[in-house]
Amino acid sequence: MSPLQGQLLATLAIAVRAREILEVGTLGGYSTIWLARTLPPGGRMVTLEVEPAHARVARANLARAGLADRVEVRLGRAVDSLAQLARERHLPFDLVFIDADKERYEEYLEGALRLSHPGTLIVADNVVREGRVAAANSDDPRVQGVRRFLARLGAEPRVSASVVQTVGSKGYDGFALAVVRSADGSA
Ligand SMILES: C[S@@+](CC[C@H](N)C(=O)[O-])C[C@H]1O[C@@H](n2cnc3c(N)ncnc32)[C@H](O)[C@@H]1O
Repeated sequence: MSPLQGQLLATLAIAVRAREILEVGTLGGYSTIWLARTLPPGGRMVTLEVEPAHARVARANLARAGLADRVEVRLGRAVDSLAQLARERHLPFDLVFIDADKERYEEYLEGALRLSHPGTLIVADNVVREGRVAAANSDDPRVQGVRRFLARLGAEPRVSASVVQTVGSKGYDGFALAVVRSADGSA
């Protein structure tokens, strides 16, 4: 993630007045910090990470950024953490950022929808991959994962969605943006 993309995420979080934010895929906490800095007083964020070493680095970075009190770094496979959150949470999330293993983006979308309310914004990173996602016959499992995710998003009646291209220091890519309408797809 480049600074421009971080700033775009932060701008989106502010636009939807996000108080409860969920991230799938933490790494060192870079996007986490962009998002958590937008939280209003009392706002909270949960970020999901499978690698213990990444979670440790992210916790240290969040502490250095003065955000440890409002961000929970939850260690484990994201599919398990999403199921656990659905069992334990009372408050839905206002913004969900999906940025973990691309092969499971479809499952993460389903998990995000279970934890959403009408108006929740779901953002997914790396859905353009310098145009490689356009290749239907690609044998890259990440490309195929993103293609399944986008097809599902386009057919999903509970959201209104599109894709925007992003450009940064790491080349060009894109965010999928989906706003949750209602459980049955009505406005
Ligand atoms: C692209 S990085 C996240 C980058 C971060 N969101 C940022 O922009 O700063 C993807 C992260 O997802 C984690 N990840 C991969 N598979 C996962 C899984 N099944 N469950 C949870 N995290 C996973 C990886 O370990 C990695 O840290």
